[in-house]
Amino acid sequence: MVSIFKLEHIVKHYGGTLALDDVSLSITAGTSVALIGSSGSGKSTLLKVMLGLVATDGGTAQFENTVIAPQQSLALRQQMGYVIQEGGLFPHLTVSENIALMAEHLDWPKEKIRARLSELFALTRLPEHFAGRYPKELSGGQRQRVGLMRALMLRPKVLLLDEPLGALDPIIRADLQHDLKEIFQSLGATVVLVTHDISEAAFLAETLVLLHEGRIVQHGSLAELVRSPASPFVTRFVNAQRSPLESLQSPQSTI
Ligand SMILES: Nc1ncnc2c1ncn2[C@@H]1O[C@H](COP(=O)(O)OP(=O)(O)O)[C@@H](O)[C@H]1O
Ligand SMILES: [Mg+2]
Repeated sequence: MVSIFKLEHIVKHYGGTLALDDVSLSITAGTSVALIGSSGSGKSTLLKVMLGLVATDGGTAQFENTVIAPQQSLALRQQMGYVIQEGGLFPHLTVSENIALMAEHLDWPKEKIRARLSELFALTRLPEHFAGRYPKELSGGQRQRVGLMRALMLRPKVLLLDEPLGALDPIIRADLQHDLKEIFQSLGATVVLVTHDISEAAFLAETLVLLHEGRIVQHGSLAELVRSPASPFVTRFVNAQRSPLESLQSPQSTI
């Protein structure tokens, strides 16, 4: 199995705050991984280390055997699609201008851009007539679809999403969860997803990585976290969000 990301002993401080405390994580190409944990546990920081957006204080981070360093992060990031926590669309650009920004910068021919936009509208199920709208003329769910299209524009090898559904109401969120799952399956790309919702993590990703106070406390499937928790914290975290456990009720009662 080929590791696409290999992080070893990563340490990151923000002033007096230890955001990542000796984090080692290897992600196999083509798999989907969810980083879960409470607010402040270091999920976004870990994602930003993978993107080369933050300099670390210790350890090594590699993407396809290349050290991820902020000075070369632009070239690396063209291979990574990133959907940031707040959406991050440019308000003064239309939907299609937002999505095509990097492709324009890389001088893609107009026809290639147009064809890719068309594919992405179909993939994310956003009607093409939204192409000329501005972000403020979209709903939260539509904006997230545009953020996703922008991340996918250059056909990245990996897709990194930071709480992509965090701000949405439950029904829109459920719709988008199903669409995201289909998209992940059709792409076959490596996906790293941040969420604080364990049921969403289990629905969208094969492997969960649970962070607590900047450390990985457990790495495995939801069933493994439930049946063989690495520490009492894992059980507390899982039990605090009961609904995902319903499907695991019978195996759990045989422990
Ligand atoms: N730019 C920053 N400046 C100072 N502290 C930060 C910054 N980013 C994150 N932190 C701190 O680092 C810790 C981890 O944050 P973060 O990775 O954003 O957690 P999460 O995404 O799990 O909520 C928190 O204590 C947070 O306050
Ligand atoms: Mg975060």
